[in-house]
Amino acid sequence: MRQAAITGWGKCAPDKVLSNDDLATLLDTNDEWITSRTGMKERRISPVPVSELSYIAAARALACAGVNADDVDMIILGSCSFDSQVPNAASRVQQLLQANNAACMDLNTACTSGMYAMSVASAMIKAGTINNAVIIGAEVIHPFMDWTDRNVAILFGDGAAAFYLEAQDSEENIGIQAEALGCIANSRDILAVNGVGLKYANQGWPLGTTEWDFEGREIFKQAINGMQSGCEKALSKMGISTSDVDIVIPHQANLRIIEALAQRLKVPSEKLFINIHRYANMSAATAPMAIVEAVEENIVKPGDLILVPAFGAGLTWSAQLIRWGQRCEAIGESDVKLPESKETALEIIKKVAEIHLKNPS
Ligand code: COA
Repeated sequence: MRQAAITGWGKCAPDKVLSNDDLATLLDTNDEWITSRTGMKERRISPVPVSELSYIAAARALACAGVNADDVDMIILGSCSFDSQVPNAASRVQQLLQANNAACMDLNTACTSGMYAMSVASAMIKAGTINNAVIIGAEVIHPFMDWTDRNVAILFGDGAAAFYLEAQDSEENIGIQAEALGCIANSRDILAVNGVGLKYANQGWPLGTTEWDFEGREIFKQAINGMQSGCEKALSKMGISTSDVDIVIPHQANLRIIEALAQRLKVPSEKLFINIHRYANMSAATAPMAIVEAVEENIVKPGDLILVPAFGAGLTWSAQLIRWGQRCEAIGESDVKLPESKETALEIIKKVAEIHLKNPS
């Protein structure tokens, strides 16, 4: 049977680290509050736009799979922080990779974008439309963060992760085995970034500034409900329960959300993969990055069944059940890396904060 196997994986976590203590020099906050309310200790800040970060993660995924960029049929970039709207950002990834035979698509479902990209690519491969795809979950959030708002600024970071999916005729069931996708559009106003999007063009909105509508407590509740119902739907499609799942790798928006979800789904803590302390919430990059790290850290074993619940603005939600293949080691390594840059993470975000302070929206 035609399967969409994941045969390559890669990530790009910029080395510019922004700690909770760094944030406390800019905002009325502190390490104790952020750690106890969110589980976050630090996050990364990217010196390059999302297409360049995506390119590095994608090049690493291709090397991991042992394939050439020329062989790629499709690139899907899942994100909500595209460096350009027209042309799309995936076409820039194609240009950088020199993946000249690839179709290119941007996909935006906010924090779930990376996992939606995986669902779309997997379905297109299984349908025979394409034979393979590079899918990327990537986000460079810091340029459109309101660094004067402590309610949201502490929660996010930049990063990218990518997978190479390819058709395999196999008796073994590998890749996405069941999934559930959805959106609670009546709650779309509880997480909105004002200032980003064409409706703000020529309206007098100060360029480069944003104002976030963010009802943290309400998102918290809806996130748990949405992910729980998504997981239950996906599990019931396979006729299994969480006890049949080897590892749960959830979207990492708040450690307390993850723990509450695990409790409802009866998932013991040893089956949960958590890296929120290292990166905070990287939106579309979060779940893909966590899967890549779980593989790199030998937590994912050959043939493991992985459950990946996620949610994002919209409010979109998703849950995929992914059967990993027999290979957990990379075939090759890419030598591409981020360009050298001397600026610290704090220096980069202070520049964005200054734009906000000069131009209050
Ligand atoms: N530092 C210190 N104090 C802060 C703070 C910060 N960074 N941010 C908020 N506070 C204050 C509030 O002003 C409030 O003070 P008050 O009681 O005097 O009004 C107090 O801390 C408690 O705020 P509250 O909103 O009740 O905290 P919480 O326990 O609900 O946690 C979030 C807030 C945002 C961490 C939590 O609601 C959450 O994680 N929500 C969902 C996350 C999310 O949406 N992620 C993105 C979607 S993918």
